[in-house]
Amino acid sequence: MARAAAKVILLGEHAVVYGAPALAAALDRGARATARKAATDRLTLGERGSVGGDGSELARGLEALRASLSAPPQEVTAELEMPAGAGLGASAALGVAIARAVLESVSPALEPGEPAVRARVLEAAAAWERVFHGNPSGIDAAASECGGCIRYTRAAGPEPIDMLLPLSLAIAVAGPPASTREMVESVARLAERRPDLVGKTVAGITSLVDNARLCIEAGDLPGLGKLMDLNQMLLAGLMVSTPGIEAACDTARRAGALGAKLTGAGGGGCVIALADRDAEPILAAWRAEDLHCFAATVGGPERPA
Ligand code: PMV
Repeated sequence: MARAAAKVILLGEHAVVYGAPALAAALDRGARATARKAATDRLTLGERGSVGGDGSELARGLEALRASLSAPPQEVTAELEMPAGAGLGASAALGVAIARAVLESVSPALEPGEPAVRARVLEAAAAWERVFHGNPSGIDAAASECGGCIRYTRAAGPEPIDMLLPLSLAIAVAGPPASTREMVESVARLAERRPDLVGKTVAGITSLVDNARLCIEAGDLPGLGKLMDLNQMLLAGLMVSTPGIEAACDTARRAGALGAKLTGAGGGGCVIALADRDAEPILAAWRAEDLHCFAATVGGPERPA
């Protein structure tokens, strides 16, 4: 059984598509998969299933992943441990888990922690992601493969970040998820109409991300929260926020969150809120508004009481 983490983008989504850095952190849940050699490809994902050559995204994804690993056809069973399509990187977590499972099936002697093996998993997961998302920046697959907290750029790939303190996050589904591909395309259309606006926004987000990295390394949670709020304002300027996202962020801030923003593509999907210590008051406020939500702690050593 192979596993892989889902992720949250802490800051920098959308700008990362234009070459800016972004920060992402792996969650403690994601996807798991098993694979064994078979006469034809077969992929079972919960209730869904696909057979090699049926033209479905799942079948094309498995084929692309397998081609990247030069692996023969596989029978794969996969499960998600979190909501799909909500901006938490479910498809990338699946891609990484399936790539690990396929490698285990074809080359059981390989050491999963070896840099060359990890690079193959990342490349195979990226091939899988391209089937679902067109031209992804690659941050989802990188965060899932690396674990912990990373800084990511398209040019340099993932770089692990040392966290002085773990981050206590509250995560809510603030509305029906939108398609990542459509949200990325809507920002691209805005960039055609208003290159000045999008250029300045990307530059602004770059500086927020650089400062947020310093906050994470120094354990400055209030500083990080303020930068998340500012990132949310800039994302709203890119028209990827929604009234539901803004309302969920406001509720979280009123319940004591240090900062709150959408995570992932926006247009719906998930909001993250940074708690000072305890995410429970934020979760209680969201539950009172009937939002589906949960807590997640990412990275770092245990925080002293
Ligand atoms: O919604 P998600 O988890 O697929 O995140 C998308 C992040 C974007 O920056 C909007 C797109 C990308 O490819 O990086």
